[in-house]
Parts: sequence; C-alpha cells; structure tokens
Amino acid sequence: SHPLEPKEMTWGFEGPFGKFDQAQLQRGYKIYREVCSACHSMELMSFRNLGQKGGPFYDPKYPNPNDNPYVKAIAKDYQINDIDSETGDVIQRPGTSADRFPNPFPNEPAARASNGGALPPDLSNMAKARDGGPRYIYSLLTGFVEPPEGLTVPNGQHYNPYMAGDVSAYYKGKHHVPPGGFLAMAPPLATDKVSFDDGTKSTVEQQAKDVTAFLTWASEPKMEERKAFGIAAIIYLLILSGILYVSYKRIWRNVS
Ligand code: HEM
Repeated sequence: SHPLEPKEMTWGFEGPFGKFDQAQLQRGYKIYREVCSACHSMELMSFRNLGQKGGPFYDPKYPNPNDNPYVKAIAKDYQINDIDSETGDVIQRPGTSADRFPNPFPNEPAARASNGGALPPDLSNMAKARDGGPRYIYSLLTGFVEPPEGLTVPNGQHYNPYMAGDVSAYYKGKHHVPPGGFLAMAPPLATDKVSFDDGTKSTVEQQAKDVTAFLTWASEPKMEERKAFGIAAIIYLLILSGILYVSYKRIWRNVS
C-alpha cells in the first residue's frame, strides 16, 4: 500500500527568500561525515564546495575555498585512491580540496555485500531525487517504527511507513495493510549519536533536520544565488514596466 505522506515541515531554505542556516549546515555535514558516509557516497560534491559562498564552511576571509584551512583539513582526513604518476602503482593519499568525496566502497558488489544485497544510493542529489524532497528525507530518518502487529519483517530489512513499497505479502493481521515498505537501511540516527560543538541538543529529530538541510544544500549549492537573481529580475521587470507605461502614455498623448 502507499507510503505515508511526508511529515509537514517548514524550512528556512524554502520560499523565494529562503536561505540556509550555516550553523545547521555545519551540524549536518558532521552527521553526514560521522554517520551516513560509512555507507553513502556523495560523488557530485568536491571538498572545496564546502567552502564556497553559501556553503557550510564558507569564510569571507578565504574567497577562494582552496585556501580555506578548514576545508583543507576536512579533505586531508579522507584517503583517496590514486595512481602514482611515476610508478603507475595504485596508491592511497590524503585528500585535497580539489578531490571529490570518495565512495566508501571500492565497487557496487562490495557495497551490496556490506548491505545485505541493497545498494546505498549516492546522496548528492537525494533531496531532489525523491518525491517530497527534504520532507521525505526527514520523515524517513525519523519514521522507523516497530512493525504493526501481524507484519513480519524479512531478515535484514526494516519497516518504515514513509518508504515506498508493498508489505501486503508479509502482513497477516486483521486491519488494512500497513503503509510503506521495507528497506535494508537500519535506523541510522540515535539520541546523542553525534555531538554538536555549538551546544545544540542532539536528538534524532534535530540530527534528521540538520542532515536533511545539508543534503538539500548539497543538491543545490547555488540555491541562494538563484533566488537572489530571480528577485533582482522581478524588480528589474517592475521598473521596466513602469518606464514602458509612462512612455506609452507620452507617445499616445495627442491621439484621441
Ligand atoms: C537508503 C539516507 C545512513 C545504508 C537510503 C535512502 C536515504 C538514505 C534517503 C534512500 C531511501 C529510498 O530509496 O527512498 C541516509 C542518511 C544517513 C544514512 C541521511 C545518515 C544519517 C546509512 C548508513 C547505512 C545506510 C550508516 C549503512 C550502515 C543504506 C542502504 C540503503 C539506504 C543499504 C538502501 C536501502 C534499500 O533500498 O533497501 N539512505 N542513510 N544508510 N541506506 Fe542510508
């Protein structure tokens, strides 16, 4: 049966004037790094993007994100597969701001083998890839519940009413078939799983909100610029309309 509609949420980044909250993006990055990145890649994102204007670690002192020491430190903390240009050997080296976020698994079979046969999807574009967008991600992360009576969850799977799917074959209860589906991801978040340096209380809801904000930013790092451009374009068109109206009145003023 159908999954539940994602939870109603309001986000500061929605609407024509929406902006990301940089402290929230920083917390969200920490959650991605400490939790999600164990399984999920984010291959469209380079480390330097974190330090670009509008990004979690943008600092006006470093207009060029490649100079941003924080971004460099984040990159260095990752090991990147590369080829030694002299020997041709496959090597591992610390990341630089120019590298992309690496995949935690060497290839798809390895990723599936570690996840009970399922493939953790790349999260670069997840906030746009699923219906419901950020609301869906938040709902999924906070939506893991005990399966209702009569529902048998297959081994290695987890019930979530917000996941697309059909659990009717696994339901022997007397009521309607429960909404949602199974997925191979266990609930990734828990109270205090990630500690926040800014003193924010680390509840599951807070973690889910913050990592969702981060993934929304990742799926459109230039959102703020796009919106600012739209507002400027509308102001420009309003002024142009005024000028055109006045000149129209002038041109036709002697015609009756
Ligand atoms: C699937 C997010 C952590 C393993 C997914 C999906 C999302 C997601 C949005 C897609 C669900 C769909 O298809 O609609 C996250 C976030 C995490 C996180 C935000 C961190 C907070 C993890 C971890 C693991 C994992 C730590 C491994 C231990 C998987 C797997 C799937 C999946 C295997 C595919 C499930 C299936 O299709 O059956 N995750 N995840 N995830 N995730 Fe995660």
